Amino acid sequence: MVDILTDKRNWKESPAEAVILGAFEPNPDGILTELNKLLDKAVEPLIRKKEFTGELGQMKLINTLKKLPCENILLIGLGKRDEFDLERLRRVSGSAAKALRDDGIRTIATTLHNVPTKKATLREQAQATVEGAILGLYQFTKYKTLNKEKIKNVKSLTLLEADKATEEGSAAGKIIADAQCSVRDLVNEPAMTLTPEKLAEAALELKKLGVKVTVYDKKGIEKLGLNALLAVNRGSTNEPRFVIMEYRKGAGAPVAIVGKGITFDSGGLDIKPANYMLDMKSDMAGAAAVIGTMKAIAALGLNANVVGVFASTENMPGCNAYKPGDVVVGYNGRTMEIGNTDAEGRVVLSDALAYTEKTFKPKFMVDLATLTGACVIALGYAAAGVMSKDAALVNRLKLAGDSSGERLWELPMWDDYKEGIKSDIADVLNIPGGKGYEAGAIAGALFLQHFVEKTPWAHIDIAGPAWSIDRKHYIERGGTGFGVRLLVEFLKNVR
Ligand code: BES
Ligand code: ZN
Ligand code: ZN
Repeated sequence: MVDILTDKRNWKESPAEAVILGAFEPNPDGILTELNKLLDKAVEPLIRKKEFTGELGQMKLINTLKKLPCENILLIGLGKRDEFDLERLRRVSGSAAKALRDDGIRTIATTLHNVPTKKATLREQAQATVEGAILGLYQFTKYKTLNKEKIKNVKSLTLLEADKATEEGSAAGKIIADAQCSVRDLVNEPAMTLTPEKLAEAALELKKLGVKVTVYDKKGIEKLGLNALLAVNRGSTNEPRFVIMEYRKGAGAPVAIVGKGITFDSGGLDIKPANYMLDMKSDMAGAAAVIGTMKAIAALGLNANVVGVFASTENMPGCNAYKPGDVVVGYNGRTMEIGNTDAEGRVVLSDALAYTEKTFKPKFMVDLATLTGACVIALGYAAAGVMSKDAALVNRLKLAGDSSGERLWELPMWDDYKEGIKSDIADVLNIPGGKGYEAGAIAGALFLQHFVEKTPWAHIDIAGPAWSIDRKHYIERGGTGFGVRLLVEFLKNVR
């Protein structure tokens, strides 16, 4: 883990191996001229040939040849001043940290949190800088045994010219980003080792932070009557788990966050083709984000009353597996016809939502789920889909998404789409029947609506942004940990 430090000194005084300096496009000249003076005209060619323009993400590493206490300066382009915001800061910080780490640098100091932006306070900038760097430096190296000595790690990141606001912001940023990295670890862990039991153990770790954790095993789940969760579990030899995490620091009804925790989604009897099954160890990313959020809010000591819930099982084929055409009686008594065993997420979530509403009578419920490939088709990887009948709740969530950089885009829950999930023999069908898969993400939300009676509720489909096939700015290939920053920001402002 990277140590996050603060230092009152400025970049000219910092003894770090590398100092990060940002400059805006198209006039990075101020900083270049100053550097040129300090480094005895060493950056003259850079200025003359206009090699560094400040274009967003552009980087130049300059050796200071002992003319400054730091060994290197990393110049990074910030793009246009008016377009600069917290998310750009986070990304630039991630790219810079990654580049320095890959160059073998172990101690980094940064001034990025001091970038003038009208849109954010110094505290917020410090938080975003630290988030970007920690997330950018993340690597999942647990299973590497060859060339271990070649794996590079940054020891410390120091925020320069630090004051109280910087210290507070960087402390919050570290808590949130570390929690998000722990979500990445869970998502990247193979399904062979990360069974529902192990996912529940990760939740139990939160007891150390004063979170009350209750884990129901298969027998406990049978007693509770979570039949839909049990139906999906039938094909698997690994037992399911149902987990409740309670963080209470405030009066009144709690806010509930609920996650889909399918530790492997083979599709079940409606088995997936190999290329679609490949990354399905990530189908528990919603549950992992709920664990990570609870971890972050407990460590931050947020003034909020929050219940985190997840239902976890594998979705496997087998002689005992649930079958297409089966009818399952959910926790709230509603019946669902299984049109496709691969639409298992909504089946397990139905029980988690119904149980949470009945037991905790929350003020709001928000669920996070890698629910549909259709949502990935609709929105790609840059945003999660949010669906709700409560416009005010959507608005709050979208605002939290914008400021945390984990963006949401609303898809409509119009009644028109209800036609598609009518069942001939049960209350609802778990896939859009009829012609095919149109509006698949919305169909998922409308299905879940049957299991929420009156609580203001929003469904967030994270199938796109939970997993990355690219390595860029603060993202690595694999699990992204999407949801932690979004939910922490939402819960911070929820009253
Ligand atoms: N876990 C998948 C959704 C998914 C797809 C997540 C791609 C991440 C990336 C989900 O359980 C699923 O299989 N959904 C089906 C639903 C269909 C059968 C109605 C889908 O999206 O194809
Ligand atoms: Zn599925
Ligand atoms: Zn799934």
